[in-house]
Amino acid sequence: MSPIKKVIINKKTDLNPVWIMRQAGRYLPEFREIRKHNTDFIKLCLNEKLSSEITLQPLKRFDLDAAIIFSDILMLPYGLDQNVEFKKNFGPVLGNLNLEKISKLDEIDFVKKVYPVYKAINLVNNNQITKNKSTIGFVGAPWTLMVYMINQQSPKLKLKKDFFKDNFLINRILIILEKFLKVHIKNQIDNGAEVIQIFDSWAGLLDEKDLPNYVYVPTLNLVDYIKSLDTSVICFPRGIKDYKNYCEIVRPDVICIDYEVDPLKISKEIKIPVQGGLDPKVLLTNKENLKKEIKKYLDIFKDHPYIFNLGHGVLPETDPNMMDYLVKTVKDY
Ligand code: CP3
Repeated sequence: MSPIKKVIINKKTDLNPVWIMRQAGRYLPEFREIRKHNTDFIKLCLNEKLSSEITLQPLKRFDLDAAIIFSDILMLPYGLDQNVEFKKNFGPVLGNLNLEKISKLDEIDFVKKVYPVYKAINLVNNNQITKNKSTIGFVGAPWTLMVYMINQQSPKLKLKKDFFKDNFLINRILIILEKFLKVHIKNQIDNGAEVIQIFDSWAGLLDEKDLPNYVYVPTLNLVDYIKSLDTSVICFPRGIKDYKNYCEIVRPDVICIDYEVDPLKISKEIKIPVQGGLDPKVLLTNKENLKKEIKKYLDIFKDHPYIFNLGHGVLPETDPNMMDYLVKTVKDY
């Protein structure tokens, strides 16, 4: 069993496995080199040879315990025939949402469109480098995907003023997303993903009163589904105030925490395995400070099943040497 699985299943506390969100990406010169010749991000994700190679790039450099497949949560709306583009220095831009078209889409057409993602998982999982490591598949949570699909861009500034106006649209989309997310998850697992992470990057946009409808219920349906396939599930509801309540309702196998929550409070309140927490900006400081911050998390979670990770994705301006130092420091602890 891989170290991450031992933490999740056997609740081991002395292993300190480590992987990093966005570990395959722009902070690596070998990724930027490939990206330079592949300007269409979606096409790159759909090139299984290149996407599997990119997935393995960080594992060739660092002693990481997992490979996270190089893809994107927005491959789902893409598979549903909504146009998705990534504009430089702006982020994702989505096309108009055609509910009628999406409602008619069948599973086979969806799978055909995103099939190379599953092939890439297969290639990664069968590569020698991932022996005794976890292959992690992922999806966006229904709420976060719906935010992108309706808002048509990152809600970093805010949601469209009339976001909640069309209740019919919102409820239909949630139902459609649940159906196709299950298909997407199943295919990732069938091709070798042994853990699924659910990214709910915009969970923090909601008021407490709206969490049951948009976050708890739709996510719980996926969590139960993943468990029924004998696979482990990590949830990352970024920015929510009450992680304890979330865990009690959604019951993931692992809870991934963001860098704004107090890890000490989490270690006291939450019994299930925990992942992440460290602020990615710490990697932009110096080794001494990085070591101090890493130690803080490892000390707090010393007697807790814990998977080391950051509290959000690694920043593009990160020096790969700092990543190297991070992994070595965690391993030497
Ligand atoms: O973690 C990994 O190494 C695996 C790959 C991965 C990517 N996106 C590749 C990517 C994963 C797990 C994601 C998840 C994802 N994508 C999330 C959830 C996590 C989070 O960041 O909150 C979200 C919200 C997205 C949507 C998305 N994709 C945005 C907003 C952007 C543009 C902003 C940005 O960070 O660049 C992307 C593009 C994207 N996805 C890149 C990568 C490597 C950058 C592409 C590039 O320009 O080279």
